[in-house]
Amino acid sequence: MKILIETERLLLRKITLDDKEKLFRLHSDPDVQKYTGEPIVESIGEIEKAIQIRINNYEKYGYGRWATFLKNEMQFVGWAGLAYLPEFDEIDLGYRFLPEFWGSGIATEASRAILTYGFDKLKLKKIIAIAMKENKASIRVMEKAGMEFEKFAPYEPGSEDAVWYYCDQKLLTTNKCY
Ligand SMILES: CC(C)(COP(=O)(O)OP(=O)(O)OC[C@H]1O[C@@H](n2cnc3c(N)ncnc32)[C@H](O)[C@@H]1OP(=O)(O)O)[C@@H](O)C(=O)NCCC(=O)NCCS
Repeated sequence: MKILIETERLLLRKITLDDKEKLFRLHSDPDVQKYTGEPIVESIGEIEKAIQIRINNYEKYGYGRWATFLKNEMQFVGWAGLAYLPEFDEIDLGYRFLPEFWGSGIATEASRAILTYGFDKLKLKKIIAIAMKENKASIRVMEKAGMEFEKFAPYEPGSEDAVWYYCDQKLLTTNKCY
């Protein structure tokens, strides 16, 4: 499988159906799902459907959320990557890792590399990231990756305000992102 992004410690590649057990472990963990606004996944079938959507989106947009591994032993740590949000016409940076890997800078390392890939290789004009106000770790990752606060606004109609960060071509000219 082709490696799309390589960092000091990480490798990122497309998610495939063979990753279903790993993703089930991730998405069925209540601590992981706590601040995502998504329910805890209860069956492999749900994961298979979600993976199929990811695969379709790789084709449709040329990017997506990518399976992320520690380089040394190809140990699965979670996923990170980009997603087009049609309801906002924005491209979103997202990440989700297994708790045993939290706190070692993995999300920041992946995010910086994904922003670089998004702007330099995909030539995107703007990338956003959205988190629940309570998700301090996620917001900190956005800051450490050089993104700037944009606004408080709901992620879904009728839901509570979330925190929106962004990076765009203008910020890049001042070397502020990644
Ligand atoms: C959010 C998440 C991706 C962060 O991953 P990570 O690899 O631990 O992130 P990093 O180590 O790169 O950075 C985390 C930063 O947040 C800080 N942090 C962690 N918990 C915090 C808290 N409760 N309050 C304030 N800061 C916190 C860390 O100290 C670190 O900052 P520092 O380097 O300045 O000390 C990870 O916790 C996760 O996968 N969570 C579950 C899924 C999720 O919520 N995804 C985001 C949805 S928007």
